[in-house]
Amino acid sequence: MPENLNSSSVIDTLRGRASVRDFKSDELSDEMLNAILNAARQAPTSSNLQAYSFVVVRDPEAKKRLAAMAGGQQHVIDAPAFVAICADTHRLSRVTASIGSSIAKDHLEMTMVACIDAALVGMCASLASDSLGLGTVMIGGMRNDPAGVAAELGLPDGVFVAFGLCVGWPNTRPEAKPRLPQDMVIHHEKYADGDLAAGLGDYETAMSEHHRHVGRDPDEPWAERVAKQFSAPKREHLLAVLKERGFGFD
Ligand SMILES: Cc1cc2nc3c(=O)[nH]c(=O)nc-3n(C[C@H](O)[C@H](O)[C@H](O)COP(=O)(O)O)c2cc1C
Repeated sequence: MPENLNSSSVIDTLRGRASVRDFKSDELSDEMLNAILNAARQAPTSSNLQAYSFVVVRDPEAKKRLAAMAGGQQHVIDAPAFVAICADTHRLSRVTASIGSSIAKDHLEMTMVACIDAALVGMCASLASDSLGLGTVMIGGMRNDPAGVAAELGLPDGVFVAFGLCVGWPNTRPEAKPRLPQDMVIHHEKYADGDLAAGLGDYETAMSEHHRHVGRDPDEPWAERVAKQFSAPKREHLLAVLKERGFGFD
């Protein structure tokens, strides 16, 4: 067993990581981005289906359009590379059709497989980027306008952008954001609700200190922000658009 359980190249990268939204204008070479995406491709995938695709976008005009679709997120424009992380069942249809066969893909399990594959490979790309000194932020805002994004990227049916990943050189690297106390999220043998008041109190204190340190309003409690932002369902158009694009939910 390693002597120091709190340190390895991966653990150190994870402990220091935070989303970066402030990028230098410095270029990111194709060679470096390819190295990152190829490393990420070693992520596990359900049944080795590899039901994901990357679409790398560098064209400034295309990034501007994508940033607007994401609700005006400037970092999508500023980052030298934007990678659309797609859930992709289209390629599997082509592969099986090429041998005169087909797959049943229009159902919930296959949709989940593709989304989970995309999430894992996207996180691995983010981690690989961080490990090379780059910074990233994921862009769920791509789901604001899944049809518009699909048209912009020329996505066939069976492909949608689960989220984007801005990759570039950080101008400033933010402090890592505190996480909920471990007892609130790590359960042993059986799920246990535990002492909410104590855990939440500790987290609010940690977040308040963090916000004060980074110059944000220290008085807005995390629980209140969650309640405010998620009091109503979000992106209700998603179901219809994704169904139209060949994803199943039954
Ligand atoms: C799937 C996913 C989508 C996200 N979408 C956005 C986004 O659209 N814009 C943004 O600025 N941050 C986005 N984030 C970043 C989160 O806000 C961030 O990870 C979270 O606040 C925790 O902060 P940290 O990553 O710095 O630890 C996203 C993160 C994930 C995992």
